[in-house]
Amino acid sequence: MATWVLRDIGELLTIGDPPSTDTTRSEQLHNSIQTLGMVHDTMLIVSDDKVLFAGPSSDAPATHLLPQPVIVQTARGQLVTPGLCDPHTHLIWAGDRSREFDLRNLGASYQTIAEQGGGITSTVSATDRASDEALMEAMRARLDTALLHGITSMEVKTGYGLLPAAELRLLRLIVATSAQHPIAVSPTFLCHVLPASAKEGAERERLVAALVDTLATAQQQGADAIDVYCDVGAFTLEETRRLLARAKAVGLLLRCHAEQFTYTGAAQLAAELGARSVEHLEQLDPPGRAAMAAHQTIANLLPGAALTLRLPWPDAAQLRNAGVTIALGTDCNPGSSHTPSQQLMMSLACTQMGLSCAESWLAVTQHAARSIGCDARGQLVPGAPADFVLWDADGFQQVCQQLGHNLVRSVWVAGTEQVLDGVRVSAAE
Ligand code: NIG
Ligand code: FE
Repeated sequence: MATWVLRDIGELLTIGDPPSTDTTRSEQLHNSIQTLGMVHDTMLIVSDDKVLFAGPSSDAPATHLLPQPVIVQTARGQLVTPGLCDPHTHLIWAGDRSREFDLRNLGASYQTIAEQGGGITSTVSATDRASDEALMEAMRARLDTALLHGITSMEVKTGYGLLPAAELRLLRLIVATSAQHPIAVSPTFLCHVLPASAKEGAERERLVAALVDTLATAQQQGADAIDVYCDVGAFTLEETRRLLARAKAVGLLLRCHAEQFTYTGAAQLAAELGARSVEHLEQLDPPGRAAMAAHQTIANLLPGAALTLRLPWPDAAQLRNAGVTIALGTDCNPGSSHTPSQQLMMSLACTQMGLSCAESWLAVTQHAARSIGCDARGQLVPGAPADFVLWDADGFQQVCQQLGHNLVRSVWVAGTEQVLDGVRVSAAE
């Protein structure tokens, strides 16, 4: 493979080392700007699938000293950043819930729709009816869309199967689809809600026990993590504890959809069990925050769901003050957040949650990558995977400001160009 030099970069975000977590709020904000590693008049050099150099042109090694042949390209003064990471998606599903979206906007609640057989249950039925090929094709198309929006790594959950065998089917399809796609996917086994046939009594107990028993298999079949949705109408705190404890014992990373509609104590529980991330957090309480800070559990905030469902915005300022690391995710799913765009999540986080542009960038690069256990990604430093984006922007704040635009111009994953001038480079080329 040739050495590849991208020169004339206007602004380069290298991101670099994680910020210290024991500083005061204002220092932290300041640090996060420093931590973007923003430099001007820079060069990025890629050899094979890794970054060889990223920094000021004046410090770059001379071209004749690089492994030959060398291909040089110009960035024409535009912004270059690490590829974005989306740490929370429900990307494999069939069916459509746009009618329910309309009903909800006209006054029906998410929970009422769910109780009437809509919501997650309707996606479960459509997913059950869909063929393996149709589900893989739908997921592949969604991965392509994510790539066009600058995403080079992401988490993908099961969750529309509910019964153990159906969730393992979705896990198998996620693993198979990811193997054929450039985006680096981290699969999660999601215990989402209980089906109508097992909502109570002995049936419920049997199903929870069966899910507990399935986790070792899920780990062997490619899951990196477990996620449990703990809420009224989903899993109880005690069930969540059993599932997370077993997942920990079989070596899965722990995540939890916590404190979304109702406060349950799940964020504190998950953090105390060593969870890598907890998700949503609209109703988070001070003990939950303190436990997350103490156990370095990352807050995966999901502005798309809060916006669509008109929930209160999670309190980012309190999280920051407590020293909790904040990541952002799309929560891409057919009901509560139908979006592929981390750019939109950055805009919402800045305008509605009070994040600075610098914090938003950290939240969709380094912090998101750490939350899915891909610590080497989300940064452009020597030895890191050469996953990066060339933007139709000359400053990082423009990407946060321009609401609803897709400013991605070109995307490279592991040193290979996958999007060129806004168009997906076909696998055959
Ligand atoms: O993360 N809160 C639970 N689950 C999903 C919604 C999934 C759906 O509505 O299909 C979420 O928002
Ligand atoms: Fe979710």
